[in-house]
Amino acid sequence: MKMLANEAPTAPPSLTTPAASPATPGARNASIWVTVLVENSVHGRQLQGEHGLAFHLRTDRGQMVFDTGQSELVARNAPLLGVDLDAVQAIALSHGHYDHTGGLATLRNLAPRARLFLHPDALINRFSGQPDGSTREVGLPDAARAVVCEGGEAVVWTRAATEVIDGVFLTGEIPRETAFEDTGGRFYLDEAGTQPDPLLDDQALFFDTTEGVVVLLGCAHAGVVNTLRHIGRLTQGRPVRAVLGGFHLLSASEARLQATLEALAALDVRMIGAAHCTGPAATARLWAAFPDRCCTCAVGSAFRFQRGLS
Ligand SMILES: [Fe+2]
Ligand SMILES: [Fe+2]
Repeated sequence: MKMLANEAPTAPPSLTTPAASPATPGARNASIWVTVLVENSVHGRQLQGEHGLAFHLRTDRGQMVFDTGQSELVARNAPLLGVDLDAVQAIALSHGHYDHTGGLATLRNLAPRARLFLHPDALINRFSGQPDGSTREVGLPDAARAVVCEGGEAVVWTRAATEVIDGVFLTGEIPRETAFEDTGGRFYLDEAGTQPDPLLDDQALFFDTTEGVVVLLGCAHAGVVNTLRHIGRLTQGRPVRAVLGGFHLLSASEARLQATLEALAALDVRMIGAAHCTGPAATARLWAAFPDRCCTCAVGSAFRFQRGLS
């Protein structure tokens, strides 16, 4: 597996579909499976949900987890979904909020040799504004922070686009370009709530398929459209096959909602699995605008994407 350099500007990842590679003896269909381990809602018996997000990805050559949920729930749901977390080679974090990182210590215990991929700003202290004017801590829980701090060479910092496993990439920092997108909430670097948190650590995961790029969002604090534009540049304009995860449109203005819907239509995104922090109003708007393209993305949802031959 070729890893891109970290902590320095890197060339965009060269994404070629395996289908374009010469056939090899014993070649077989190469699929990538994406299973939702943690989400706010549930699709299946015995499974449980929580405010958080975690995906499991499995290719012919590796397995990884993208985000961890906020508790040990990720380990409870996994066996019910046929996922063996012991086999996970990498854990990637979308950003440093507790609902995406709180299960890190649990995962690390199950997969002690897994590499950890995250942006360094995921470690900073951060707070969220409350309706009564107070703030609450929403950063990495202590146990998760300890895993990173004790990770040594297993930790890979991802300021720039970085391959995590077998053609699956983190975006690195996402340029904020659109005028209509912001971090999506009252996020601060200080407990007093005076310094806005730009959430520069926010990043998405993506991989190419025969039909285009699949994008997994954590919370999309960089903005869904900013994220998709950045991935468009990284993939030399490959079409977007699917976008799954948190769109963070909970408190989005009408103008932002409208601009986001227009951008998704212009990009001709064929599958939309809005989850977690998307918010009920925005989710309803997405389903109304793209009734044939929206899908459930809850605990127990599983997706298979074709990557050609291996
Ligand atoms: Fe979140
Ligand atoms: Fe978040």
